[in-house]
Amino acid sequence: MPNPAEGAPAAPVLVLNGPNLNLLGLREPRIYGHDTLADIETLCRATAAEHGLRADLRQSNHEGELIDAVHEARTAHRGIVINPAGYSHTSVALRDALAAVDLPVIEVHLSNIHRREEFRHFSYVSGVADAVICGAGPHGYALALAHLARLLEGTR
Ligand code: DQA
Repeated sequence: MPNPAEGAPAAPVLVLNGPNLNLLGLREPRIYGHDTLADIETLCRATAAEHGLRADLRQSNHEGELIDAVHEARTAHRGIVINPAGYSHTSVALRDALAAVDLPVIEVHLSNIHRREEFRHFSYVSGVADAVICGAGPHGYALALAHLARLLEGTR
């Protein structure tokens, strides 16, 4: 029997951040805090490594680019952590892409979207996510990666 541990390294997980998250640290710090996207990416790399995963970090302000990244993940990644940001509340197309790829998906929001304006209470992505974490700030990404690692246990 071939030993998978000796084969090619397992594919990374995709951590995908949507529009305006490139401005973290500057953007409404009262809501989103002072950590930058680079700080969050450092946290994601470290947390992924703690769980024996590799994280690929992507951010885009463009809906189509996010969808393309999800499509690429179909063959290049083992799972997805996504903060769809504003597209959570508007994008059927992003939801459809996530539904199409058949990978575990964890949705993250820095803020508690249920405590905010009513238009943020609904997320198109939540219906196709395995888990949703919101309101934990940057730690939400660490929680998401830990949960993704659990879901991936025993798979390659
Ligand atoms: C967000 C919440 C969204 O409502 C908002 O549009 C964002 C960020 C969050 O991380 O709290 O851009 O996804």
